[in-house]
Amino acid sequence: MIDEATAKSKYWVEEPPIHAHPDAVSLIQHYRPELQDAEAMIPILKDIRLKAWKIKYYPCVGLWHFFKFGMTEMPIYPEIIERLKQGQRILDMGCFMGLDGRKLVVDGAPSEGITNMDLEDRWFPLSYDLFKDEDEFKGEFFGGCDINDEELFGEGSIHRHRYDMIYIGYFIHLFPPTRQSQIINNLVQLLKPVSGSMLFGNTAGTAKENGYKMKADFAPPIKNEKGEMERQDFVFHSTKTVVGLMAEAVRGGKDGEWDITADKAIFDTDTSPTKAFSLHFKDAEIVELNFCMKRK
Ligand SMILES: C[S@@+](CC[C@H](N)C(=O)[O-])C[C@H]1O[C@@H](n2cnc3c(N)ncnc32)[C@H](O)[C@@H]1O
Repeated sequence: MIDEATAKSKYWVEEPPIHAHPDAVSLIQHYRPELQDAEAMIPILKDIRLKAWKIKYYPCVGLWHFFKFGMTEMPIYPEIIERLKQGQRILDMGCFMGLDGRKLVVDGAPSEGITNMDLEDRWFPLSYDLFKDEDEFKGEFFGGCDINDEELFGEGSIHRHRYDMIYIGYFIHLFPPTRQSQIINNLVQLLKPVSGSMLFGNTAGTAKENGYKMKADFAPPIKNEKGEMERQDFVFHSTKTVVGLMAEAVRGGKDGEWDITADKAIFDTDTSPTKAFSLHFKDAEIVELNFCMKRK
């Protein structure tokens, strides 16, 4: 694991980007009306973010990346809200503090249809510290859930074939490139096997046509074929390679036929402005990548 000082040098911005993300500010104000002065939420945000950072030095935590609601920028966002209003269920896998779920609620979705799930359950009390919505939020939180674990998605699991929609925000890049299509297939097993069920999300991608690979400095080293410890490969997908990844995950038709789409947008530098970050990723031509696979 990367040490804290190295992580901080690349992935830490002290001040929350409250001016760049008014939607995140108004989301917090919705739940915490006493924080009408946005400046008043800064110490609270810093305190909660520091507690999250001490749990794990995730770049998205240090850089306040979780302040950006990737889902709302996708063209399918109105459809997601509508389907939730009709009683469908969404799983936010790798939900962190469940900000996206809270945003769905503010945008009109009933909280009963929202399932938050993560490997780490220590994020959840922090989210209640921030939103103070224990009595209001009727959705679910499942911690200690590893998408690598067959008990989560295999026969006999309560989560198998349960969800109409699954959102994966800044999630797929956490896994080595050679594991990613299996991870996508594991997620597909959590979806209802019906037409219209969909898996969608976003990640940091690249404008380079065929993707861009580098060594991940934030992931734990793993054993290579020779038994030596080495840094994992980290891949920035392009629209082309992410579509290929999803097609690969459902190849053979056993899991049905799918419409797969991806698009790219400008990467949000408000949440990633450090010089060390720019230098580290200087050749990656980073873009924001959105993708969606919907069962035909
Ligand atoms: C980079 S954060 C993304 C948070 C949020 N979805 C967003 O878009 O800002 C990745 C999240 O995935 C969770 N995670 C990491 N490995 C996981 C696994 N194997 N299974 C389930 N969740 C995992 C982490 O605990 C973390 O909350």
